[in-house]
Amino acid sequence: MDLITAPKGVRDILPDESWKWAYVLRVVQDTARRYGYSEVHLPVFEHTELFSRGIGETTDVVEKEMYTFVDKGDRSITLRPEATASMVRSYLEHRMDRLQQPIKLWCAGPMFRHERPQKGRFRQFWQIDFEIIGSASPYADVETIAIAMSIFRSLGLGRLEVVINSVGCPVCRPGYRTRLIEYFSSKKEMLCETCRDRLERNPLRILDCKREECNEVSEGAPDVLSHLCDECSDHFDETKGALDAIGASYKLDKRLVRGLDYYTKTAYEILSGELGSQNAVCGGGRYDNLAEAIGGPHIPAVGFAAGVDRIIMVMEQQGCSFGDLPPLDAFVVAQRDSFRTDVLRVAEALRRSGLSAETDLGGRSMKAQMKAASSRGARYACIIGESERQNGTATVKDMATAEQREIDQSSLAEELKK
Ligand code: HAM
Repeated sequence: MDLITAPKGVRDILPDESWKWAYVLRVVQDTARRYGYSEVHLPVFEHTELFSRGIGETTDVVEKEMYTFVDKGDRSITLRPEATASMVRSYLEHRMDRLQQPIKLWCAGPMFRHERPQKGRFRQFWQIDFEIIGSASPYADVETIAIAMSIFRSLGLGRLEVVINSVGCPVCRPGYRTRLIEYFSSKKEMLCETCRDRLERNPLRILDCKREECNEVSEGAPDVLSHLCDECSDHFDETKGALDAIGASYKLDKRLVRGLDYYTKTAYEILSGELGSQNAVCGGGRYDNLAEAIGGPHIPAVGFAAGVDRIIMVMEQQGCSFGDLPPLDAFVVAQRDSFRTDVLRVAEALRRSGLSAETDLGGRSMKAQMKAASSRGARYACIIGESERQNGTATVKDMATAEQREIDQSSLAEELKK
């Protein structure tokens, strides 16, 4: 029979990598605490409608990339492609609008998109997601950028670029959209097939097309910033002013449009040169109309998500530290097979006192156990032989210096901790 392997685009995070993930998530958790965000755990699947209405019917994510299936109750269910729509759904469902506003939440977990796998792009990937729900203030936009940068700084990530833009709102965007359609229609034959298709349905996305031919046409396209209404324009100026005030450097990119339709006003990405074409470690922005799109009242909000897989790739490439892997304190060795229960008892006592301890589970010789202690990187081997058993002691060998001494089992943990 053929060996069953993981589906395309998903991967196992094995022990040589999983401790790096734990480190990154610890840093994220600590940053969330410092900025006053509370963690939530949200479901991995939702009603499909949450995403089709929330993210937008004409986005690539909804049109092409969702893992959607009909469940046994005949409901259309989708594995979440992102967390923002779920965050807002949860906020509304649990009436968090009744609490002191804004509500600041974060979550981490796997997201699912049926994309073409390549470097830094997977079909199951992890995001950390931070949202401020219930604030229209440009200072909220800036706080989210500041948190993202704080996380990256704490992780030691360098050479990142923050790019920002404003994508307007339902007041000014329709006019801009019309101008874009006029412009691109006159150059339709120069666009790629996908963008010709986007022309009527989602013309803003043409600005984001990576193909050479579309890129050239987009160079001369009308720019969104000169079509903003007064409110969006003021909001953008205040956002930039506050970024300057906290000393955050950023670049304006008038062609930055995000792949999700819920954005209004500020949109931003944080890019790394280390990632090739999938260069965004983080993407976010304001989404003042999402709550209404999924059946709630008008609730302004802003947030971002960052890809954990990509963060770790960049950290590895930049030689960032992932902290120290905690060492194994002790490997407890049985001189004879009949001493196994003594070994187990001694190891348990060490573990209860907070030390890490391992034993051989395979009935191997003492020599093989000492070898295992060394290959596991144990600081001490605690040997239980005939005389140690009788005296209630253990012979403790310091694996680095080979120094040996006999210690009472009752004070073993205390002595090892010294
Ligand atoms: P997004 O730009 O689609 O935004 O994704 C955010 C980040 O997730 C990206 O910058 C990237 O690091 C990572 N990412 C996305 N797709 C993949 C993939 N296929 N493989 C690996 N990493 C990936 C959102 O998801 C919005 N919900 C962000 C947001 C929150 N906006 C407001 N609040």
